[in-house]
Amino acid sequence: MRGIILSGGSGTRLRPLTKITSKQLLPIYHRPMIYYPLNTLVKAGIKEILIIVSPERAGDYLNLLGSGKDFGVKFTYEIQDKPEGLAQAFIIGSNFIDNEDVAMILGDNIFEDDFSEEIKNFRGGAKIFAKEVPDPERFGVVKFDEQKRAEKIVEKPKEYLSNYAVTGMYIYDKRVVEVAKNLKPSDRGELEITDLNNWYLNHGELEVAMVQGEWLDAGTFDSLLRAQQIAKEKLADKMVI
Ligand code: TTP
Repeated sequence: MRGIILSGGSGTRLRPLTKITSKQLLPIYHRPMIYYPLNTLVKAGIKEILIIVSPERAGDYLNLLGSGKDFGVKFTYEIQDKPEGLAQAFIIGSNFIDNEDVAMILGDNIFEDDFSEEIKNFRGGAKIFAKEVPDPERFGVVKFDEQKRAEKIVEKPKEYLSNYAVTGMYIYDKRVVEVAKNLKPSDRGELEITDLNNWYLNHGELEVAMVQGEWLDAGTFDSLLRAQQIAKEKLADKMVI
């Protein structure tokens, strides 16, 4: 299994904090934010990790993270010229993925869960992770049918569907590259990971698991503050990096 950390984007909601640095390099308690998703992948046993960054900040990431030797893994870096969507990661990363399964985590997502078993037991298709949240309209949202099977996923729904947000950890088989290449940009001009997930769902090959522990996307001032607190109280002493 290969790993990708998607760490580009513009971080507009955190301006002016993100005017001179990348959101995912901001401090969360005792580490730069990206250490948390990196820790999740390292802990899950992934050894080859692609880090996708924006062109303005690439040097900072290299200075901070280097080759990966310090973490017992190997890093590859790629540039995303413009933030044209989460699913673009699989096109940018197609050489790196090289016909293997791949787990992608977003650079501003902080998980308490350990994904080792999910990664070890992955046998094809796609697997995503949902969490009940009070503000689902900020995320991709999963609608379940009466048998609790995922029925559809809608990106930032305007009408209420459910409280289950799709979190920023995704596992796909090698077909993800071809599926991503065939996606059309959405109205907001992005290749949507929700479209990718719906492709697997419509082929009966999407599994939706629940996140058990804490999960935060640290992209707003309030979630950033909360991430600091959770990092100190629950995560810091369990990190392996
Ligand atoms: P978002 O939080 O949706 O976007 P953003 O980071 O640009 O922030 P804002 O909305 O405040 O402008 O992105 C989620 C994660 O995915 C985050 O870690 C950035 C990353 N990302 C990319 O690397 N490339 C992209 O094209 C997009 C849309 C996001």
